[in-house]
Amino acid sequence: MRSPYEELGLAFGEARVPYLYGMDCAPALAGAIVDRLGDVDAILFAADSGVRGHADAVAAELARRVRVELVPVEAAERHKVLPVVQHLLETAVARGLTRRSAVVAMGGGTVGNIAGLAAALLFRGTRLVHLPTTPVAAFDATVSLKQGVNLSAGKNLVGTYFVPALIACDLAWLSTVPRHDMLTGLAEMVKNVLVAAPGLETKLIRAIDELTLDPQAALRALLEVGVEAKAPYVAADPREREGALIFEYGHTAGHAIEFVSGGEIRHGEAVAWGMLIAAEVARRRHGLATDDVAAHHRLVSLLDLPDAAARLDGLDRDAIRAVLAADNKRGYGPCAPGEVLMVLLDTIGRAVPGPAGGPPLVAVPIPAVMDAFETVAMNALEAV
Ligand SMILES: NC(=O)c1ccc[n+]([C@@H]2O[C@H](COP(=O)([O-])OP(=O)(O)OC[C@H]3O[C@@H](n4cnc5c(N)ncnc54)[C@H](O)[C@@H]3O)[C@@H](O)[C@H]2O)c1
Repeated sequence: MRSPYEELGLAFGEARVPYLYGMDCAPALAGAIVDRLGDVDAILFAADSGVRGHADAVAAELARRVRVELVPVEAAERHKVLPVVQHLLETAVARGLTRRSAVVAMGGGTVGNIAGLAAALLFRGTRLVHLPTTPVAAFDATVSLKQGVNLSAGKNLVGTYFVPALIACDLAWLSTVPRHDMLTGLAEMVKNVLVAAPGLETKLIRAIDELTLDPQAALRALLEVGVEAKAPYVAADPREREGALIFEYGHTAGHAIEFVSGGEIRHGEAVAWGMLIAAEVARRRHGLATDDVAAHHRLVSLLDLPDAAARLDGLDRDAIRAVLAADNKRGYGPCAPGEVLMVLLDTIGRAVPGPAGGPPLVAVPIPAVMDAFETVAMNALEAV
């Protein structure tokens, strides 16, 4: 009999992680989780409180075979902090989890990161299963070992790398993501096309077109764009400290925007603005051709972003500068005080090399980033 889900094998260096995915296959995925965990004695089920319907159904399936301790987690940037990780850890111990137990993280990238970090810390490492429910989580964040949370100075400043035991996604879970969030969540796919896989542009555009008419085909194609573009890089550079750093494209200004907006501007949208800012910096400082800047705008326009001025004008500029100064890429390469390390492109599909064969990061004075920010915020690039 045909399996209700398909299986991809993700490589992170020597580690291999199965990624099971399909449409309307949640009960089969729940069975596969228990089968593959083998001798598991209990599951701490960290469930994004925005997906209770999906989570309750999966938890009920799992509970037929193993003890399930359900813990709702609110998915908001302000909750992506160590006290929430600690709450999960205290709950796990209070409810009797052991080294044979597993943490299941169901939700978007926020809950994936919080519960992922908790799994890495519990008993110095407990098996982790990701059940992603947003485009950012399903097509991007789970194709990464990074598990980080925020400090008061900025995003993802504390965390670790942790190999999950399994990733499983019923693409039907994504059907409840509001259209705006679905589209802006695809900013990471636009990023993949711009930095690593320009050849996937047509597939991405077709998938976005098909989202309403044939969501099943569209979501499968989007998963492929995410995995195809990123998998070879994380296979070779599982800690994303060298070649795979290109996937930080748009994230320097993007993280500052997301953080200073208090999460009001969600990750995908913030990364989209961050890519436009990076393109403008690269045009001014590294000769990125205006055609290539226009390609950024063409691709980002697929995400149906709101008006830039309306979103960016109200953000506190001093706070943006401060978050840029605390960016978590500091130390990967030479960077003087008052500068920030960025991934920049010199043409579509090619990052500006870092100094002395180091990672593909370029030191940019923070005022130059802020100038580009203002240009994007004023929609001043529309004429390019
Ligand atoms: N390598 C990595 O670890 C990595 C990569 C990319 C992003 N991230 C992180 O992921 C976070 C962003 O993740 P996100 O974009 O998934 O947003 P999110 O996890 O913050 O979720 C956004 C909202 O969507 C809701 N939601 C989740 N699934 C839903 C569904 N199926 N239907 C309806 N609502 C749903 C959540 O409850 C929340 O209110 C950021 O903190 C970012 O730093 C991490």
